[in-house]
Amino acid sequence: MNVANKTPFALTTPLYYVNDLPHIGSAYTTIAADVIARFHRLHDRDVLLITGTDEHGQKIERTAERLERSPQDHCDKIAAGFVTAWQQLKILYDRFSRTTSPRHTAIVQEFFHRVWEQGDIYLSQQQGWYCVECEEFKEARELLANHHCAIHINRAAEWRDEQNYFFRLSKYQDQLEALYEAQPEFIQPEIRRNEVLSFVRQGLQDFSISRVNLAWGIPVPVDPSHTLYVWFDALLGYITALLDPEEEPTLANALKKWWPINLHLIGKDILRFHAVYWPAMLISAALPLPGCVFGHGHLTREGQKMGKSLGNTLDPLVLVDRYGADAVRYYFLKEIEFGRDGDFSESRFVNILNADLANDLGNLLNRTLKMALKYCDGQVPIVSNSDIPAAHPLKCLGLTLGDRVAQAYENLAFSHACEAVLALVRAGNKFLDQQAPWTLYKQGNQATVNQILYTVLESVRLAAYLLSPIVPTTSSKIYQQLGFSIEFENGYSVPYTTHAQWGHLPGAQTLNTPQPVFQRLEAESS
Ligand code: MSP
Repeated sequence: MNVANKTPFALTTPLYYVNDLPHIGSAYTTIAADVIARFHRLHDRDVLLITGTDEHGQKIERTAERLERSPQDHCDKIAAGFVTAWQQLKILYDRFSRTTSPRHTAIVQEFFHRVWEQGDIYLSQQQGWYCVECEEFKEARELLANHHCAIHINRAAEWRDEQNYFFRLSKYQDQLEALYEAQPEFIQPEIRRNEVLSFVRQGLQDFSISRVNLAWGIPVPVDPSHTLYVWFDALLGYITALLDPEEEPTLANALKKWWPINLHLIGKDILRFHAVYWPAMLISAALPLPGCVFGHGHLTREGQKMGKSLGNTLDPLVLVDRYGADAVRYYFLKEIEFGRDGDFSESRFVNILNADLANDLGNLLNRTLKMALKYCDGQVPIVSNSDIPAAHPLKCLGLTLGDRVAQAYENLAFSHACEAVLALVRAGNKFLDQQAPWTLYKQGNQATVNQILYTVLESVRLAAYLLSPIVPTTSSKIYQQLGFSIEFENGYSVPYTTHAQWGHLPGAQTLNTPQPVFQRLEAESS
């Protein structure tokens, strides 16, 4: 991902199933996507962040039935829950794609015809074990005893023996292998790419794209006694999302500005659909391919797999209520190397937030502001940058930090971005302790005091700016206390070219009253 050019950048989260309200897994993907989008907006890039809901299929039909709601009513309720959740998590999405919208049906029908015209769809007999929870046929060897699904261990897969329409995936074996070879960055990280390569090498089989006896779906355009398989329909939701709100729903309109999508961010469990089925469908329809599919890891709780059966699911909104959106966003991106599996532990959560944001960053600002009020009339000291030696411990780190952090964001290495910023903050605390400006002030050494306070305030500013995609509320508070009238929460474009540079804090700027920017957290037993 190169941020130097100003071409549009489109990225997606998965379109989430509406069998239930958002869980921490869906929140995780969405927070990461939002951080990437915010980072690109700082570069003044035209960004389109797509999220939404996947509303058809047997799983949703049965959920609605169980709750005695009509399927559409159920979908409307849960989709509204996603919108609220994303607002609370400070997600700035541009499009919310719902697969039950009539516009989506139009796109799916047109796409289906393209693939049909290619001769890539045919009718045949489907026999196999179907896990409704996964919405996927399983090989017998993938199942546990009594044909229970390995992911949904309480649920038995159901035997199906019916006529289905199939997509000719096998035809695209060579083209897919050539794609993975020619564009190694298409599947990331490396471990996921290897998984896909070994799956594809075993030989691709055609997959069924229609269901019979399923009312809740889009009818197959050439045979309305079938409905389309929910995944065939759902992946196309990414294309529907590209339409401008009032635009006629045609493929040509949808594809003209934002296609191909630069990045599909997903969890590793849905890698095959995105890295194998999806590009094959697109090649069949003669469309260019997305830039990258990134499959992140899974989250566990206190070391255990999360699930309703274990009763240990984690509601992201309970966490937000308790600790605030910034805390939730920071923990998951700082603590877990993106791409790997990771754990949520409440004590670790509280410790990390208190150490990094309340103590290291918050206290550094607080004590430096207090000193600036006392020793510098509440203003940013006027210091000429050229008077600060290049070897100065903070300047030296600060001069290259913007580039290093940009590189980390571009590589989706969020924890590295946080670490690099925190290294400057910690150096700031150490520097202040060593220099003891309170003593120098008493000795009448104002010029040195000015330089010390300037370099520390500037370090805090730079840290706040570079963390703003992750903790926009905290960064806004820091900027405001430093005297800027800038806020990051609503995606205000604050240019990277200037604000990520060391030395951007203007001398003589009036500072505001110090207030804690991040309240210390207390663990609550849930
Ligand atoms: N509807 C499909 C996606 C269709 S995209 C065209 C779907 N939806 S989902 O709601 O079940 O899953 C959405 C995302 O949540 C996936 O990326 C999945 O990996 C993620 N997670 C679900 N549980 C998770 C964890 N415990 N940890 C991290 N993410 C996990 O699949």
